[in-house]
Amino acid sequence: MIDIRHRSFEETLLACEALGGVDLIVTSPPYCDARTASAYGTADAWREEQYKALGDACFAALKPGGHAIVNVDAPVREWRKGFGTERGFHAWRLMLDWAERVGFRVPDRLAFGRNGLPGAYGGRFRNDWEPLLWFQRPGADGYFDKASLDAPSPYGCSGTTTQRKADGTMYSRVASGAAVENGITRRGTLWSYGGTGHGQSGSAGLEATGHPARFPLRLAIDVVACFCPPEGIACDPFMGSGTSAVACVTLGRSVIGGDLGARETDGKRWADIARENADAIANPTQQSLFV
Ligand SMILES: C[S@@+](CC[C@H](N)C(=O)[O-])C[C@H]1O[C@@H](n2cnc3c(N)ncnc32)[C@H](O)[C@@H]1O
Repeated sequence: MIDIRHRSFEETLLACEALGGVDLIVTSPPYCDARTASAYGTADAWREEQYKALGDACFAALKPGGHAIVNVDAPVREWRKGFGTERGFHAWRLMLDWAERVGFRVPDRLAFGRNGLPGAYGGRFRNDWEPLLWFQRPGADGYFDKASLDAPSPYGCSGTTTQRKADGTMYSRVASGAAVENGITRRGTLWSYGGTGHGQSGSAGLEATGHPARFPLRLAIDVVACFCPPEGIACDPFMGSGTSAVACVTLGRSVIGGDLGARETDGKRWADIARENADAIANPTQQSLFV
């Protein structure tokens, strides 16, 4: 199933609830106060109150045990009078609100690493990671396939030190800090993808849509493979160019999504662009454009 429409996040998440809940929400909502807000063609910059409403709607839209993976950051702006430009707290307020008020579990803290853009770094560091917040609706074990993230180790089987695990078996730790077992690198909590453009995102076709705030296809593929069961349904209520939809169709998962914005250059609705991209993946003659 591919169900992507021009609609608000509330409408998309209500549609999930009406279906009896989805297994995964994988999304990147608009960032509060972001410079890119006007480029979406949606009316206003986002405020933290909307993150609260989003938390309630995501909880209701998930099956018990379902996961929500939310990429959200806080632009560098003046957010406290008198303190100059600082990175804001919006992402962390969202995490605490969804955990403490809405009632989500926070199984671990993930970071999405990507190359920071060149720019002015006076008085601060270059930004090369963003929060990748992980929530789980309590009530069932849910789906979790960490093995799908395993990768052959560039270091082979060798490691600089050998250590004993709690169960008595041994593992090697290489100098970079990656955990390697039998030539396989096990994913940790830093999920790095290099660039989000210039052919590094995993999809030249998605890059060519010109969406101003995409996440990499490789990130969406990892999230869907790890947190959505093979016959499951994933939802992205802020679909943008359709990155998460392309990941779902590539991996054979059903997808529900929406977006309210339109491309700045020609006014074409992002939901239509996302649906076309997802449909193209379902068509074997066009797949190579996207993956
Ligand atoms: C950070 S972008 C998501 C980009 C997407 N992950 C991708 O890879 O292309 C956020 C999207 O939210 C959409 N949006 C803004 N307000 C919305 C709302 N109230 N309901 C649904 N979509 C909205 C914008 O049009 C924008 O495309």
